[in-house]
Amino acid sequence: MDNEKKHARASWSGKWAFVLAGAGSAVGLGNMWRFPYLDAKYGGGTFLLVYLICVFTLGISLLLQDIALGRNAKKSVVGVFSRYGKKYSIIGIIAAAVPFIILPYYNIIGGWVAKYTAAYISAGPAALADGGNFFVGFIGGGLESYLWMILFAGIVMAVIFMGVKGGIERINLILMPLLILMAIGIAIFTMTIPGALDGVKYFFTPDFSKMSPELILAAIGQCFFSLSIAMAIMVTYGSYVKDEESLTGSTAQIVGFDLLVSVLAGLMIVPGAFAALGSAEAVAAKSGPGLMFITLPQVFEHMGGAAQVVGFLFFLLALFAAITSAISIAEACVSIVADGMKCSRKKAGVIISVYTLLMGCLINAGYNVLSFIQPLGEGSSLLDLADFLSNTVMMPVVCILTCLFVGFVMKPKTLVDEIRKSSEFKLAGAWTVMVKFVAPICVLVVLVAYIAMQFGLISF
Ligand code: PHE
Repeated sequence: MDNEKKHARASWSGKWAFVLAGAGSAVGLGNMWRFPYLDAKYGGGTFLLVYLICVFTLGISLLLQDIALGRNAKKSVVGVFSRYGKKYSIIGIIAAAVPFIILPYYNIIGGWVAKYTAAYISAGPAALADGGNFFVGFIGGGLESYLWMILFAGIVMAVIFMGVKGGIERINLILMPLLILMAIGIAIFTMTIPGALDGVKYFFTPDFSKMSPELILAAIGQCFFSLSIAMAIMVTYGSYVKDEESLTGSTAQIVGFDLLVSVLAGLMIVPGAFAALGSAEAVAAKSGPGLMFITLPQVFEHMGGAAQVVGFLFFLLALFAAITSAISIAEACVSIVADGMKCSRKKAGVIISVYTLLMGCLINAGYNVLSFIQPLGEGSSLLDLADFLSNTVMMPVVCILTCLFVGFVMKPKTLVDEIRKSSEFKLAGAWTVMVKFVAPICVLVVLVAYIAMQFGLISF
């Protein structure tokens, strides 16, 4: 409380509050559908192995960097960079733009998840497993999809208005443990379906003939998205951490949570897919939202009597994960506006609510009234564009610029000292090499390769 008054800035009430909120941000739709889909597509155990290596090298180092930057500055992302001179504020501005682009479309997908959760009860599992007509009818059909988006965004903003301690902390404290318990339950159930054990084997056994540059790029991209790195979000959450809380310990715990949920989601979906469709590739053949909203209901339908319960619980789980992630994105936006306009959280919350509603409606219109706009080629949507811009282009750019800023302007020692305020940091040397050289080079390679792939200049 003292801290809050002195700095007029909120703070977490303790270490667990921060770890749960950080895990709540990290654990999201990225774990629930993106990870299992990529794993199925890129050879199961092979992808898992490369992903683990990425997480324990790049992922953990960059997450620690984001959190330490936030706590060191006790400011939202713009202030973190502008403290070192006006010319660096551009990094903060690009970083700040990322959550503003993600928030509206994350709310739209959150609305889809909410709709499916409800539809498992009202329409039943068979209606959802009709090969895509239900999904296309829903997103293309007009009013209803807007209402679900507004409902989802409403829940998220309500938590934000309740504040950091009263809202964000409390909801994470309830939803995160529930999420883990449900995930363990569903994973155990799907692994025991006849035919599923082949999927479990596929999930864990590396097959080095499946290794490819594309697989490595996918693993690095997934690691960043899943840990909410370079999106101004962990910087914001880090700025609420008190000086006496250990940053290394919290970072490791957030990474652990995130990894656990990804592995559980993989164990829920990959073995189920094997049992239902005979191979994981059959599931991976459909990428993006299609996997979660079209193929998965078909997988559940194969579970017979259990389809309704498993389908409902799976989407409820995804809904919890999506809510806690969306809260973190909205909180980053609120904190940027409150700091930038020197206004109260409340006022910033109102501004963000209006913004997300207007932008959300615009992007959602890309599936119905504005569906003639196909910015990334045949069949693409405004949502695809927002996703491509934020995740594929801006996030790597922010990551590279942040690393170079820390490495050569701020100097890693500043953050090493910050981290050492509250814990030992034996790996400071390795971490410095990571953020100064390894990470920016790796991310640059990923960025160039992704863009070249998008425009058809290279293919693997
Ligand atoms: N990390 C979240 C996930 O895995 C997604 C996310 C992206 C959260 C951006 C916050 C910001 O789904």
